Amino acid sequence: MAKEFKRYLVTSALPYANGPVHIGHLAGVYIPSDIYTRYLRLKGCDVISVCGSDEHGVPITIKARKEGVSPQQIVDRYHELIKKSFEGLGMSFDIYSRTSSKTHAETASAFFRKLYDEGKFIEKTSMQYYDEEAQTFLADRYIVGTCPKCGNDRAYGDQCEKCGSTLSPDELIDPHSAVSGSVPVKRETKHWYLPLDQYEGFLREWILEGHKEWKSNVYGQCKSWLDGGLQPRAVSRDLDWGIPVPVEGAEGKVLYVWFDAPIGYISATKDLTPDWEKYWKSEETKMVHFIGKDNIVFHCIVFPSMLKAHGGYILPENVPANEFLNLEGDKISTSRNWAVWLHEYLEEFPGKEDVLRYVLCANAPETKDNDFTWKDFQARNNNELVAVLGNFVNRALVLTKKYFDGRVPACGELTDYDRETIAEVAAVKASLEANIEHYRFREALKDAMNISRIGNKYLADTEPWKVVKTDLERVKTILNIALQITANTAIAIEPFMPFSAAKILKMLAVDKFGWERLGAMDLIPTGHEIGEPVLLFEKIEDDVIQRQLDKLAATKAANQAAEAAQHVEPQKDTIQFEDFQKMDIRVSTILAAEKVAKTKKLLKLTVDTGIDKREIVSGIAEYFTPEELVGKQVLVLVNLAPRELKGILSKGMILMAEDASGKLRLLQPGDATNNGAVVG
Ligand code: MF3
Ligand code: ZN
Repeated sequence: MAKEFKRYLVTSALPYANGPVHIGHLAGVYIPSDIYTRYLRLKGCDVISVCGSDEHGVPITIKARKEGVSPQQIVDRYHELIKKSFEGLGMSFDIYSRTSSKTHAETASAFFRKLYDEGKFIEKTSMQYYDEEAQTFLADRYIVGTCPKCGNDRAYGDQCEKCGSTLSPDELIDPHSAVSGSVPVKRETKHWYLPLDQYEGFLREWILEGHKEWKSNVYGQCKSWLDGGLQPRAVSRDLDWGIPVPVEGAEGKVLYVWFDAPIGYISATKDLTPDWEKYWKSEETKMVHFIGKDNIVFHCIVFPSMLKAHGGYILPENVPANEFLNLEGDKISTSRNWAVWLHEYLEEFPGKEDVLRYVLCANAPETKDNDFTWKDFQARNNNELVAVLGNFVNRALVLTKKYFDGRVPACGELTDYDRETIAEVAAVKASLEANIEHYRFREALKDAMNISRIGNKYLADTEPWKVVKTDLERVKTILNIALQITANTAIAIEPFMPFSAAKILKMLAVDKFGWERLGAMDLIPTGHEIGEPVLLFEKIEDDVIQRQLDKLAATKAANQAAEAAQHVEPQKDTIQFEDFQKMDIRVSTILAAEKVAKTKKLLKLTVDTGIDKREIVSGIAEYFTPEELVGKQVLVLVNLAPRELKGILSKGMILMAEDASGKLRLLQPGDATNNGAVVG
């Protein structure tokens, strides 16, 4: 027997505030969660949907460091961007909070403190990488080196993004600090651990025995974690960004982001309503976590163990995690900019919010990874939304305008075919409900679309535009039924395409219906005057799609160029110290510079080497103007055999570095020095 619940608490994974949201996030987490929530609301259930930005963790500090701004600036920027773009897509969270809020700091600290006071943690010291130059412990992400599996020389201490292997810093070849570049040392540090091994029995019973109904990808992952044996997990980190560990002697330590973030669901609920406890502390609440597959272990193993250790909180009833969405056959990647970004989509496709919602749901990676392609996006829009849904609604409304001046005609005697059609529409409800309630949103969407398919077929078969010439009474019945089906469509698609549902209701000039009315044939009263028909969807032309494909092609080209640029010349053969000593390199100042006539590349430079003033011809005219060179201190190889170039005797060589793009850069002494100073 399924448990009966009085209310629902829907959570959606808190997105990291270190970048914008893309279609992978949407298809995996946010679209399903919004469909589920809207459906429950429409049914009149007591439901709240909470989300917010995940603003702690190392990726945020890395991004901040890269851009030379504070972590707070990073999270402020992306929190606003994400929040706004979610709103733009019609995400109907009851609250979109953030983990840098005061409520959250208090809630997470108190949570930790309770577990600490009750001896639920174990304290352990371990050896961690430490950067002596920057005087900081290094998170795994902050250690870079060569991947032992694929040779990528920019692998991180936790993962190689090239081959996808999970790594530990100890496995990296030639590890160095991403902060200072120095070689890190190991240093002792103390942390608090949640002994997950002690919760294994509870988890086995709760999940493996108690939740056999969970999606097989989720259940399977849990089982393999549990079968592999659980280890204590550190819940603190040495980092200067996060919620300080609220105990004595924990300076410089913060709560691990995966400890504080899920508590964010609780804090968000607190910020939403003073009545938050009824959602979190009552067995009559059904809590559902919407997440992507990379979050399964945290939501099914770690967070439930935390909640259990704390006591007093309910556990999730289901965790319908999705697999990943790819883009045009390649893995979506924020760092490689391989994504369709929500905020860009909203700008480039105004008024087409529902098209994206539709395509991402129709294609959701529910049971396996799936692919988003722009061609499929176009085809689904043109062949399904325009040709089926849009076409049906438009015909029903336009014909009513045309034949009955916009007044809903009366339904007369029904034919068998009418009855069959009505029964088919009525049958959708049960299937649609079962699919949504079992998190099969793709199937549910098909059901919802089925109503307009039935309607479309009904009009095609009954041909009111022909019958009108002979039997107006019959046309009244046909259009009455078509309008009732139109209203049914508005109910059924609301969870999936809320903008279009609202448009239909507006065209029908009626208020929103409750879910229980789905299937009814008396939604619009006879004689009611409908509004103006407008097109629900527009065809998307090839050039629009091509522009998106071009954009992706440009990204790919840029990535390839960047990768090539990463290529570093291999080291030359070893030389002896004496070989090096033969070179006489001096700090010098460029006194004058002019172009060498009839050449493109050459500049004639007059330099003060401290030893003398002399002329040097250098092939750098493409990179520097003469003016910008004058007055610069540079390094000059002064004992290079003189050479005549274009009739000028060049006595020496200015030292330069060639960067990855082939551009030359001057080598200059860090501080101004006297000319003639010896380099070596
Ligand atoms: N920020 C995480 C991610 O994007 C998700 C955090 S979910 C929470 O993968 F439960 F921890 F909040
Ligand atoms: Zn690798």
